Amino acid sequence: MKLVIGNQKAYLTKEQLTDFVKKIKELNNKNVIICPSSIYFGMFDNVKVLLGAQDVSKFDGDATTGDISFKQLKSMNINFSIVGHSERRQLLKESIEDTNIKVRKLLDNNMIPILCVGETIEEKSSGVTKQVIFDEISGALKDVPNNCIDKLIIAYEPIWSIGTGNVPTNDEIDNVIRSIKKFLLDEYNSNNIVLYGGSVNTKNIDELNTVSSIDGYLIGGASTKAVEFLQIIDKCS
Ligand code: 13P
Repeated sequence: MKLVIGNQKAYLTKEQLTDFVKKIKELNNKNVIICPSSIYFGMFDNVKVLLGAQDVSKFDGDATTGDISFKQLKSMNINFSIVGHSERRQLLKESIEDTNIKVRKLLDNNMIPILCVGETIEEKSSGVTKQVIFDEISGALKDVPNNCIDKLIIAYEPIWSIGTGNVPTNDEIDNVIRSIKKFLLDEYNSNNIVLYGGSVNTKNIDELNTVSSIDGYLIGGASTKAVEFLQIIDKCS
């Protein structure tokens, strides 16, 4: 049984999501979390699936135009939020300090951050993948009390794998995920769920599922296609 989280990014229009929701409406699986664009949360009212946000404001709310605060998410019963996704860090210049504030706000309010970490292709070629990831985790967890770190879900997403169809070998993924788990245990005495993300689809899911250290997946593109997403969930249940 693996956790499957869908990050639908900004892919779908209302019409496309209406069709998606119609096709997944029988889904009733506690190991699935869908993160749609926040404007669409209400479209899942009649679907028994957990929802998450793709991001959360680093501010408490009120006068922050365009942001969605943790209080607003909580008031919608949304208790999960992706934080530190590489697209926000690269395209929107979010810093590790921003991610750290978000992680702390979520954990302080009994919400669950889904923290994304991962290396660029240049970092992979230079052999610094693990150091990059350990630095990202340490930065994101600065001043977080040790007793709530085990709530955090980590998503290992090699940046070069996102949306490209290029997936690391099983051994590479296993090696990085085991290192992340060991790092969290050694540094924070914490056991965490660690997901893999990056070009997961119906063609590679069987092979990925043979990697026992992977606790689940953070899925982008394939989570917007109902039939494909349901097939992946099926194979993970
Ligand atoms: P893809 O599955 O489209 O590669 O996206 C992965 C991702 O960024 C999930 O957060």
